[in-house]
Amino acid sequence: MSFDQRAKTWDASMRRQALATAVANAIKEKIALNNSMRLLDMGAGTGLLTRRILPHVQSITAVDTSKGMLEELKKIEGAIETYQSDILSYTPSEPFDGIISSMTLHHIEDTNGLFKHLLKLLKPNGFIAIADLAPEDGTFHTHGNEGVFHFGFEESTLKRLAETNGFINSDYQIIHTIEKENNRSYDIFLFTAIKPSST
Ligand SMILES: C[S@@+](CC[C@H](N)C(=O)[O-])C[C@H]1O[C@@H](n2cnc3c(N)ncnc32)[C@H](O)[C@@H]1O
Repeated sequence: MSFDQRAKTWDASMRRQALATAVANAIKEKIALNNSMRLLDMGAGTGLLTRRILPHVQSITAVDTSKGMLEELKKIEGAIETYQSDILSYTPSEPFDGIISSMTLHHIEDTNGLFKHLLKLLKPNGFIAIADLAPEDGTFHTHGNEGVFHFGFEESTLKRLAETNGFINSDYQIIHTIEKENNRSYDIFLFTAIKPSST
């Protein structure tokens, strides 16, 4: 089932709501957010993370390939702009103070190209804060693995991707565990890194 087809019922999942709360709390602990910041939410979906971070910043630009997911996100009130676009081809006129994301990275095949692109989307000293699955065995997606390009990410893989593409101060922490109906548990990390003041 595509994200467009799942959009209307996406937010009904308590598991997804709890995950979004855990990711937002971890981002707030790790990054000093303030109300002058303009952030980008990569693969924002219906806005589960956007709505939790929005009260702490000036505005959020939500980028997602799925029209249906963004239609749900547009119901959130506040300083949000939406773009239906692949993140890799999204080229805004102004860079951002930070990029947040939850559960999108494993859907992006070209992670090296992505990190290269994310650096360009940021102001100097801008941050990335990306949450996703720690390595899993391919059983997380109970609807099948279509559109899933990575079965989670190792800390060393993300640090290498970030550092070879110009980020500094990278950090990887397990911040949440999802318990699923198959009696298995899946760890979620938050990965953060900074664009240096001069590149
Ligand atoms: C698992 S959902 C997560 C949505 C939301 N962040 C959340 O936590 O509920 C992944 C989202 O990433 C979007 N997506 C996948 N590949 C993308 C890409 N290359 N560029 C932008 N969005 C993408 C999908 O359409 C989907 O809405």
